[in-house]
Amino acid sequence: MKIKNICCIGAGYVGGPTMAVIAQKCPKVKVTVVDINEQRIQFWNDPDVNKIPIYEPGLAEIVKEVRGRNLFFSTDVEKAIDESDMIFISVNTPTKTYGIGKGMAADLKWIELCARQIAEVSKSDKIVIEKSTLPVRTAAALKDILDSTGNGVKFQILSNPEFLAEGTAVEDLRNPDRVLVGGDIETEEGREAMDALVDIYASWVPREKILTTNVWSSELSKLTANAFLAQRVSSINAISELCEKTEADVNEVAKAVGMDSRVGPKFLKASVGFGGSCFQKDILNLVYIARSFNLKEVADYWEQVIIMNNHQKRRFAANMVRAMHNTVADKKIVILGWAFKKDTNDTRESAAIYVADYLLNEQAKIIVYDPKVTEEQIYSDLDYLGSRSGNANRQAVTVVNDPVQACEEAHAVAVLTEWDEFKNLNWKMVYDKMLKPAFLFDGRRLLKKENIEGFNFYSLGSVN
Ligand code: UDX
Ligand code: ADP
Repeated sequence: MKIKNICCIGAGYVGGPTMAVIAQKCPKVKVTVVDINEQRIQFWNDPDVNKIPIYEPGLAEIVKEVRGRNLFFSTDVEKAIDESDMIFISVNTPTKTYGIGKGMAADLKWIELCARQIAEVSKSDKIVIEKSTLPVRTAAALKDILDSTGNGVKFQILSNPEFLAEGTAVEDLRNPDRVLVGGDIETEEGREAMDALVDIYASWVPREKILTTNVWSSELSKLTANAFLAQRVSSINAISELCEKTEADVNEVAKAVGMDSRVGPKFLKASVGFGGSCFQKDILNLVYIARSFNLKEVADYWEQVIIMNNHQKRRFAANMVRAMHNTVADKKIVILGWAFKKDTNDTRESAAIYVADYLLNEQAKIIVYDPKVTEEQIYSDLDYLGSRSGNANRQAVTVVNDPVQACEEAHAVAVLTEWDEFKNLNWKMVYDKMLKPAFLFDGRRLLKKENIEGFNFYSLGSVN
């Protein structure tokens, strides 16, 4: 089976970069990315590639090279489905905010809508691929919808979870640790569909890195991979609190532990808490599934990773208030960094949102600087929490373009995203501008004490 036309539903953080790289590496395949969000598609099609809606190092260059050649962005979902042999579903699957499983289960509303649309429009056999992270056995639901509402055409459903991390998406896609393809290995049609997808990736990924499994293993592997990664962050964050009590230094502990080749050095960086669209959502999902099978201990075990993460965000903010003589009311606090990690403009579940919310509840005045996040996004993140009116958020929070200027007469600065530019900020000038005592809270272990003279300095995971 030779694939000529690929359609991807959802032009977001997963669909956009993934399809750009597939289009670049498979110049003979036409790749069309569709989305119901017209504005998003408009940005993807903007003649100025720097206006594409997702910031990822290296992505604009790829889009410039392949857009209009074999990569297209469109709002005509039906046409793209109709023309394709292979459809990737990359729509959002956020945690449910209503009904059964509220706050825990994944909301599959958008996935189901996609499936129904694919069934309705398709006039030829198609391979349908789950790209978004989904609960185990979603493929069964997809199959049910496709087979019972379609026009008699055949669908093969594959699971091909995305392991890219934001900020390094292009590099992760070009050079993945592994690619996972789950499908119906029991039948010939299933194996053929899997081969077709493997062939696409094999254009640039060595075959030995492409793993094929049954659908359920593939779906569960994605949740498990994210749960393991998040667990490492929560583990080191738990130790960071102990370090602050015992005069140990969390960086030194992480280094010593990570040098054991069985543990490894990556993903052991203590922080103000993990964010991003995946970790929390996927663990909640895992917990929900475990509970639905009455696996209480399994569910409790994984839930602890989230409990620890929430604790870390809260204790960081509480420590700020405590350090500043137990009151921040009307004090000016500058937050440096709003994205959930550096090199992305994504703010979903970012620790900064929760730290700011805590400080706003204590009636602080907040100034935010982030090199890539828009003012509109920052207000929308705070409004989404619903802790106070939109008006109150706009009164208490100011978003600025100049981090040093922002510190004029500030009581405190908190570094919440590890953007490289914060390392080299003119900290002397910042100090001079601030009210004294000048407080500096480093939630990312980014700053070296010798570069920041004069401050009352608090670095997560050590005694200063
Ligand atoms: C994650 C997975 O890494 C990726 O494989 C999956 O496809 C999607 O979810 P992402 O959320 O984009 O990717 O970023 P990641 O680099 O994993 O970081 C997640 C959060 O953990 C960030 O807030 C980051 O700052 C934090 N983190 C990460 C730490 O606090 N310490 C670390 O050592 C590593
Ligand atoms: P992710 O990080 O998983 O890529 P995003 O929220 O960035 O998530 O992107 C998902 C995209 O899917 C959004 O742009 C949204 O508009 C789009 N989307 C959701 N449902 C549909 C649908 N039925 N048809 C087309 N696009 C959809």
